Amino acid sequence: MGNGIAHVAAASGFAVTLIDTSEDILQRALATIDANLQRGVDKGRASAQDKQAALARIRMTSDLQAASGADIAIEAIVENLGAKEEIFQKLDRIMPEGSILASNTSSISITRIAASTRRPDKVIGMHFMNPVPVMPLVEVIRGIATSDDTWKRVRDLATRLGKTPIEANDSPGFISNRVLMPMINEAIFALYESVATPEAIDGVMKLGMNHPMGPLQLADFIGLDVCLAILRVLEEGFGDPKYRPCPLLVKMVDAGWLGKKSGRGFYDYRK
Ligand code: CAA
Repeated sequence: MGNGIAHVAAASGFAVTLIDTSEDILQRALATIDANLQRGVDKGRASAQDKQAALARIRMTSDLQAASGADIAIEAIVENLGAKEEIFQKLDRIMPEGSILASNTSSISITRIAASTRRPDKVIGMHFMNPVPVMPLVEVIRGIATSDDTWKRVRDLATRLGKTPIEANDSPGFISNRVLMPMINEAIFALYESVATPEAIDGVMKLGMNHPMGPLQLADFIGLDVCLAILRVLEEGFGDPKYRPCPLLVKMVDAGWLGKKSGRGFYDYRK
């Protein structure tokens, strides 16, 4: 999602520094941003000059120290609390005192991430949706210590990015995944119990409920490992068996069938 966030920020006029440990991933991110900006040019929503200007605003580096002058960092690394704590501690040391540390986490507690820094009042969740350039929402999550000033600055930033910020308090799955994941899990249970085929389950939700993608296709799009990790956060966080991940989801993740990114999920993408 990092490339989508960088795309939107650069297209909105911000100077962006895209940081990743891998040069290869940075190159791929730039190619993706280029291709997605081109969609806007092809549709006549932006000019070729707009695209070049946006690309010119993106600097890429594998050196985290490059964050030293930033007003805000938006972290979008792997969904793992330990990895996030480590990077937030480093950013806390590197970045100016007044700057904000935001996480694009889809379910990890903002309060816990914030507690690993010396500025919990300036730590906040900025949860973008995929594909970032298309989806209008930024779910803004306030940890227990997040200040009103931090919320207001992030709300204004999201608006300047052309997004609609919606405020939520820190709680397992926030709003988005607390509502979305039980629906996806239930669709997987329906498949597991042979109620219908994947096409039929998705077809009902698309044609009957006007969802752009059915829940199984959406799970493939999000990543089945990500869906499983979020369901585990809900199950553990609420201690409620209603969030128990469907055994079929667990088995598919064990098999390495992670959805679109691995070529196989509820549908086959290998062709
Ligand atoms: N970057 C930029 N633009 C993109 C894009 C991308 N990656 N992907 C699609 N688009 C643009 C297309 O250019 C097209 O633009 P126009 O309307 O101007 O023609 C538009 O989006 C629609 O794309 P397509 O016509 O190719 O395909 P579509 O109509 O099937 O829409 C979709 C694709 C937008 C992904 C749509 O299927 C959709 O909205 N799906 C649901 C997405 C969703 O639910 N996302 C949230 C997932 S949950 C999450 O992200 C967070 C979490 O914590 C799990």
